[in-house]
Amino acid sequence: MLLSEQRLIVTGGPTREWLDPVRFISNPSSGKMGVAIADESYKRARETIFIHGPIDASLLTNKKYRCVPVETTADMLSAVKREVMLNAVLIMAAAPADYSPVKKSVEKIKKTGERITIEFNRTPDILKELAAMKKNGLIKNLFTVGFAAETNNLEEYALTKLHDKNLDMICLNDVSRSGAGFGSDTNSTTIFMKDGSRIELPMISKHEIAARLLDEVEIRLPKYLI
Ligand code: PMT
Repeated sequence: MLLSEQRLIVTGGPTREWLDPVRFISNPSSGKMGVAIADESYKRARETIFIHGPIDASLLTNKKYRCVPVETTADMLSAVKREVMLNAVLIMAAAPADYSPVKKSVEKIKKTGERITIEFNRTPDILKELAAMKKNGLIKNLFTVGFAAETNNLEEYALTKLHDKNLDMICLNDVSRSGAGFGSDTNSTTIFMKDGSRIELPMISKHEIAARLLDEVEIRLPKYLI
């Protein structure tokens, strides 16, 4: 099956988990990697859907594919689940928040002491939930690509995610390098495949990485999908 016959769902940007009406926890993902993949997908796939957290609106100007804004990790999970029920490729370039405050205060939390302790719960792991749905036969023919932004034990952590999230591919970003990872226009990426092979890409633009990534997805799709 060719990419031109597939719907491609891309996620990008951060998610936000609110503490109170004026404060949230998040991370510096700009959404640029996700937008680059969605742009490249629009040239190749039957349909492209870009599910994104809060990102700069200028990144989405004049996009012809469908953009679905979400805020929290739970919202992103629901949006992804809505889109992946049939044959699809999912590329999770987003950096969803991993923890959410146990209590979200309805009113602004007042500054009362020198310290504050906040308890957090784990947010749902989107890729793990999809892996479980695939295992139970609730989703068929879903090709999944994850990302891993790491500062140390790069390969070990990326391969653990590839395995634990039952991915077909994972793109490792060494975010300790300047010009790579969050917010930059370039990235330094190694793509690890489920079959044990890998491709190391030099520091190149996020759009070039997106093109190389989709080339690799395209080569492998026929083996995975019926
Ligand atoms: O947006 P930019 O500024 O362009 O930056 C791009 C990026 C560095 C954010 C991106 O390339 C990247 O590496 N994203 C993954 C960040 C990360 O390390 O995520 P993680 O290790 O928490 O998650 C691993 C994988 O699981 C990712 O595909 C992530 O989307 C997914 N995930 C994470 C948390 C969660 N609750 N559910 C998930 O499915």
